[in-house]
Amino acid sequence: MRNIIVGSDHGGFDLKEECRLFLLKDTAYNVFDQGVYDKKSADYPDIAKKVSLAILSGEYEKGILICGSGIGMSITANRFKGIRAALCHDLYTARLSRQHNDANILVMGGRVTGAGLAMEMVEIFLNTEFEGARHKRRIDMIDC
Ligand code: RB5
Repeated sequence: MRNIIVGSDHGGFDLKEECRLFLLKDTAYNVFDQGVYDKKSADYPDIAKKVSLAILSGEYEKGILICGSGIGMSITANRFKGIRAALCHDLYTARLSRQHNDANILVMGGRVTGAGLAMEMVEIFLNTEFEGARHKRRIDMIDC
């Protein structure tokens, strides 16, 4: 089983639910929902921090974070050393976030990206391998 963690604030709630239900249909995934669980106003840093720490703990292979624009979630998650949260808007950025950046969190904007595109981005993000080599060297240069 592949352990995946998802989280959102109120601005990303609907799309997070779409992602969660999409992943649940595939028996390869064990999906943990870090919340939020309704559309009441919530603070994105709380969720971004919990998801980032859960990934750094090693319990989850990858995460998906969604707020209204995706910006707050990505700014917060990227404060954590070892987290590479990629704010993606299309299939190209979702693929490159894995091939070149070894991203461990896919970030999307719930008020930006439609569900159909988002599901394809999730599929690509979770199933594209990191290319390593010169990209590994560059990633190693990030935290110094
Ligand atoms: C909430 O209104 C909104 O600010 C939040 O979801 C996110 O877009 C922040 O970056």
